[in-house]
Amino acid sequence: MEAPSDLRELLELLESRGLLKRVRTPLSPILEIPEVLRRVMRSGGPAVLFENVEGYPGWRVVGNVFGSMERIKLALGVERLEDIGWRLAGLLWRPPPTGVLEKLSSLRDVAGLARFTPKPSRRASFEDNVLEGDEADLNSIPAFKSWPRDGGRYFTFAQVYFRESRSGTIGIGTYRVMLKGAREAVIHWQLHKRGRHAYLDAMEKGEAMRVAVVVGGDPAAMLAGAMPVPPPVDKLFFAGVMAGRGIRVYKLPSGILVPSTAEIVVEGFIEPGRESEEGPFGDHWGYYDKPVHRFPVMTVERIWMRDNPIYVGTVVGKPPLEDAYIGKAAERIFLPLIKTLIPEIVDVNMPVYGVFHGIAIVSIRKTYPGQAKKVMMALWGLGQLSLTKILVVVDHDIDVNDLNQVMWAVAAHVDPQRDVVVIPGAHTDHLDPAVVVPGYGSKLGIDATRKLPEEYGWREWPLEVEPDPDTVRRIDLVWDEMGLGGS
Ligand SMILES: Cc1cc2nc3c(=O)[nH]c(=O)nc-3n(C[C@H](O)[C@H](O)[C@H](O)COP(=O)(O)O)c2cc1C
Repeated sequence: MEAPSDLRELLELLESRGLLKRVRTPLSPILEIPEVLRRVMRSGGPAVLFENVEGYPGWRVVGNVFGSMERIKLALGVERLEDIGWRLAGLLWRPPPTGVLEKLSSLRDVAGLARFTPKPSRRASFEDNVLEGDEADLNSIPAFKSWPRDGGRYFTFAQVYFRESRSGTIGIGTYRVMLKGAREAVIHWQLHKRGRHAYLDAMEKGEAMRVAVVVGGDPAAMLAGAMPVPPPVDKLFFAGVMAGRGIRVYKLPSGILVPSTAEIVVEGFIEPGRESEEGPFGDHWGYYDKPVHRFPVMTVERIWMRDNPIYVGTVVGKPPLEDAYIGKAAERIFLPLIKTLIPEIVDVNMPVYGVFHGIAIVSIRKTYPGQAKKVMMALWGLGQLSLTKILVVVDHDIDVNDLNQVMWAVAAHVDPQRDVVVIPGAHTDHLDPAVVVPGYGSKLGIDATRKLPEEYGWREWPLEVEPDPDTVRRIDLVWDEMGLGGS
């Protein structure tokens, strides 16, 4: 299965499989379309294409494109999302080649990585309309107001493209963008994100930072914006790894590469230190952010768009909404890389209702005392996993996706005075509503593994109840005849 290279191609594919519905009812992007999307997302419904956008003739709006694992897999052309992580991690997991043939084959694999690099294109779909000066008006785009107390209209699922001056790589971040008038917007990259680091670098040099806000385009690049790819890995390259082929890109006058199939590209720059208030905004924790913060202001130079453009939006709020599936996809895609760095990890579950950075459950194959806490410390130092507030570590035989099994492990294996760690004064998700100072709070780790003698006063851990195997076999033989159901 090939990954589609254009949002429109993906929408056709979804429609052909009954995974997209069209809506002709006139609806406004102010609260109305978001409310429809919120309901559809919460009930696990299809992608929705709104063909009659009130106040925006000629426009269409699509949402919930990635609101199921099935749709994300179709967008990326894979059956198993872990396979994407293995495309990179798999190279490290094999024994070094010894024979000549083995060496040649491993060289081929490394050279094969080149097929994921961006492919330059002289033409772009969005060259249809290029608006500059007074013609370039952000208000002409049907950006959403999602919640009644949001401070304005937002691009809720746009990708912010920029060049990272230290490495020369392209960064792509799905950061919300608040419209502030016709030619200004505020970009909400949080404390720990690559966009903010690139901005700090530009500030240090006293240079304006070039940015392009992209809507639609290659579905893999759309998803790459939300992936916690460790710097300095180029995010366009990573998008290519996800798609299984290079992303077709177009070079903007600013030198930034963007997918050539984008629906809308807003090109502009951020002057060093120019910031403005952002918010309030109803975010993925289910709260309006407070207090309102200052974030960098983008000045718009040019807006490019396709004929009959399709605007892509999403709604974030109390889970589960579309971002829950995108977060789950990130969990699956990065698991092979996490296992490469922390080999005792067997599986990870960041439950949807745990808001991803709220709670993570990790199972490990434990072989030495103190290993669960070692894993906690490793995860709290690892990329965006470091933002996880509460970590629960269980043994490998506990299914991390079965929250009842996890509850049993926590209840039966934890002596809080020994197995619970609280780390005060630690960094947290920028938006965590529970902490007083945004981005600064504490961590909780729960070691729910069975304890080794060293951890258990040199005593043996109690024997777990298991039925007698001979009796199990005998009862299996007569089970059905008793008509008790179950097994
Ligand atoms: C729908 C959606 C909205 C998001 N909004 C923001 C945001 O406003 N600010 C932010 O820093 N991260 C936001 N994120 C999370 C980032 O996209 C994610 O952390 C990603 O890894 C950022 O890219 P980076 O790691 O290259 O900085 C959002 C994710 C999704 C799926």
